[in-house]
Amino acid sequence: MTDWWRNAVIYQVYPRSFADGNGDGAGDLPGVTERLPYLADLGVDAIWLSPFYRSPMVDGGYDVADYRDVDPVFGTLDDFDAMAKKARDLGIRVIVDLVPNHCSDQHPWFTRALSAENGSPERDRFWFRPGRGPGGTEPPNDWRSIFGGPAWTRVEDGSWYLHLFAPEQPDLNWTNPEIHAEFLDILKFWMERGVDGFRVDVAHGMVKAEGLPDADYGDGEMNMFSHLKVPYFDQDGVHDIYRTWRPLLDSYGAMAVAEAWVSSAERLARYVGPDQLNQAFSFDFMLADFDAAQYRKIIESTLAEADVVGAPATWVLSNHDKPRHVTRYGDDGLRKARAAILLMLALPGSAYLYNGEELGLDDVTDLADEFKVDPAYRRTGESRDGCRVALPWSLPLTPPQPARWEKLTADAQDADPASTLNLYRRALRARRTHMADAPEIEWLQAPAGVLAFRRGETTVVVNTGSRPVPLGVYGGRVVLSSDDRPDPAQLPPGTAAWLTRL
Ligand code: GLC
Repeated sequence: MTDWWRNAVIYQVYPRSFADGNGDGAGDLPGVTERLPYLADLGVDAIWLSPFYRSPMVDGGYDVADYRDVDPVFGTLDDFDAMAKKARDLGIRVIVDLVPNHCSDQHPWFTRALSAENGSPERDRFWFRPGRGPGGTEPPNDWRSIFGGPAWTRVEDGSWYLHLFAPEQPDLNWTNPEIHAEFLDILKFWMERGVDGFRVDVAHGMVKAEGLPDADYGDGEMNMFSHLKVPYFDQDGVHDIYRTWRPLLDSYGAMAVAEAWVSSAERLARYVGPDQLNQAFSFDFMLADFDAAQYRKIIESTLAEADVVGAPATWVLSNHDKPRHVTRYGDDGLRKARAAILLMLALPGSAYLYNGEELGLDDVTDLADEFKVDPAYRRTGESRDGCRVALPWSLPLTPPQPARWEKLTADAQDADPASTLNLYRRALRARRTHMADAPEIEWLQAPAGVLAFRRGETTVVVNTGSRPVPLGVYGGRVVLSSDDRPDPAQLPPGTAAWLTRL
């Protein structure tokens, strides 16, 4: 069965935040192993692990110094193998993060490039260029780093190197065949260890426009994940790379999911298909407000584009880069988040959960400076650390976990049928029962602010408006509700329900 991912529910583990196995206060791979039964009980099909590779951790491990080893902070390769084995035994597949756009400045390739000369094979693995202006003191072009400041840093001999992210994350030169060969080998390394797939970091970034032309931003804001058209993102050439990966992935029965921040569902669909990657996150869905009209538009365009290329849609509400959706939704965020998960899990395709969302966690927005380690923080004042605080498994909490999480520990929620954790467990079970083989979406008439659709025998109603919605018109009985005490006759504002005619 190679198509397991088509409607899989995949749980993102941010290793530092998920679970601490050795008691040093930071999450690690033994911690993941220990909590696998919890994830099996939650009902997920797979886990995606954010980077656990050797890294100076300038960008939470997205600055990789050795793609084939585990950072001591997280454990060892043996710990990885033990984790993967236990996951397999529990029927959970394992996806790892692949970071091909850039490596760490501590990667031997980059340290060697620094001590080599311009024009050398060592430097050709990166983007070294002379500067502009008198004495070459200006960067080679106007590109800006996603984390703030110019995307170029000057080295001792006066030349500059490109880094779309932090200066400690030099961009790799994908016009160099050696880079291609290396990444095919890295894919193989992890597939040989039994991984079932890859999440491809900055999948839209590896190819830069010929001649590295200026971006000419104008007034356009270049923020963390802007949809601006720029000469270093979403270049057509990236698809040639995936054309070489796909046969290799297929030969191991592995899949890959693209993190691609692009301008439309049409552009996103280019990352998936029979000779591309298997999935691409719908970030439009992730960033949408709790609003029926927005959801409907995004769901329709995402499904239509996915259909054209024969790939499944890939839904997500939160990840390690954006404020958690409980916080994003504003007032009554948790109530809305509980409704949103019932929407997401009812959609055709695959769904990703971000660790801690099953506990209803919100962002820690008032994090003390000492806990802010995001490289973007120093340069832009914006930090992603608020969604990366360690999960509260049990009491006592430890800083920077906020006191309001005391009621949200996994321990506290486990036995409470009304808890968000138990809602997620019920929803994942109901998805298997009612949605596994369900047909596509058939939209139903609904008042403004309400989303209603049918998939076979199951009807899904989401009320994002401000008035209760009578359920009688939809027929059937409520089998799943985001409300603690569901009223069979009506759906209150900020809630969702599944009804079945069976
Ligand atoms: C991706 C990751 C993000 C990281 C960036 C640079 O967007 O999700 O966390 O900072 O790539 O690797």
